[in-house]
Amino acid sequence: MTSLEDFIVTPWEVEGVVDYRKLIERFGTQPLTDDLLKKTQELTKSELPIFLRRKFFFSHRDYDLVLKDYEEGRGFFLYTGRGPSGPMHIGHIIPFYMTKWLQEKFDVNLYIQITDDEKFFFKPELTLEDTRKWALDNILDIVAVGFNPDKTFIFQDSEFTKIYEMALPIAKKVTFSTARAVFGFNEQSKIGMIFFPAIQAAPTFFERRRCLIPAAIDQDPYWRIQRDYAESLGYYKTAAIHSKFFPPLTGISGKMSASKPETAIYLTDSPEDVKRKIWKFAFTGGRATAKEQREKGGEPEKCVVFKWLEIFFEPDDKKLEERYWACKRGEILCGECKAYLTEKVIKFLDEHKRKRKDAEKVVDKVKYTGGLASKMWESTYQGPRR
Ligand code: TRP
Repeated sequence: MTSLEDFIVTPWEVEGVVDYRKLIERFGTQPLTDDLLKKTQELTKSELPIFLRRKFFFSHRDYDLVLKDYEEGRGFFLYTGRGPSGPMHIGHIIPFYMTKWLQEKFDVNLYIQITDDEKFFFKPELTLEDTRKWALDNILDIVAVGFNPDKTFIFQDSEFTKIYEMALPIAKKVTFSTARAVFGFNEQSKIGMIFFPAIQAAPTFFERRRCLIPAAIDQDPYWRIQRDYAESLGYYKTAAIHSKFFPPLTGISGKMSASKPETAIYLTDSPEDVKRKIWKFAFTGGRATAKEQREKGGEPEKCVVFKWLEIFFEPDDKKLEERYWACKRGEILCGECKAYLTEKVIKFLDEHKRKRKDAEKVVDKVKYTGGLASKMWESTYQGPRR
């Protein structure tokens, strides 16, 4: 980061304190407005999920057109993914819950790309064996979220080689100069890395209607490239809804990082791990002493514990607001909030682990396994257009 930049967001790094309003301007995306949320509510005839209500998903491209396509009967499909470089943490799983809600309410097909190739190229320390092992592990966490098995297709790039065919048309269009400008490649970049954006764009061409991608905003550069060429290839520009980053335990800014274990809670952490990590590492808005906090009140705006409750762990709006003011007025201390969050997280992980066990039974239904593509894939696949 240079002194001129206050923050950086790329698919490989997030640094500094991210100003999400500025990021919308920088990336040229649109804010997810109350009107769009209202329309979503009307079309799905449902209460909005917490991620939309609290604007954790805050930005989009062409989501308005997706709703229009749905309303007018053309439909759309969903696509999301995961780079399997290690165990998944809480921040990784949230976009999948958003995706599940969208699939359920709109009753649409969903493709999930597991980029074991990407992580092999971009992480020098990982072998292909490693990323394949993590792919299998991560797929169980993803299946545990509970997607519709008849409308979900999960594939791993290194074994679902059809993906190559779908990457060809766009790979013929994107120049090195464009890829370098968008992704920051240089002369030292490996050729696998340089080709990879075509592979991540490929699933947006799986069906000949509009694709909607729920993902964290750092993935947007891929969609920008797709949108530059899609129409010239005879496809729709992909739509996207973008989430903010789930904050690490250690501070309100930045991104939970798998490489700093104390900043993250993994889906496989034991109740003792959760307790210890929240107790020891969670950054709160607390004052130096209990006395001072009772007098001046806390600062929930700075508090990671409050943020986690707001994003995911306290769905009750009224309770959240009460907690906010009780903190502000100095009526509760940080230990109390930490204990409350700890209990919520342990409960969530308990349930997740149980569903993960069940996932082992359905994984063959949704995962592409060497030649046995699901019925869904066979009925929708048409090959590249040109
Ligand atoms: N590049 C993503 C990662 O590192 C994985 C990914 C592939 C993805 N396709 C996607 C993420 C589509 C979101 C949406 O995690």
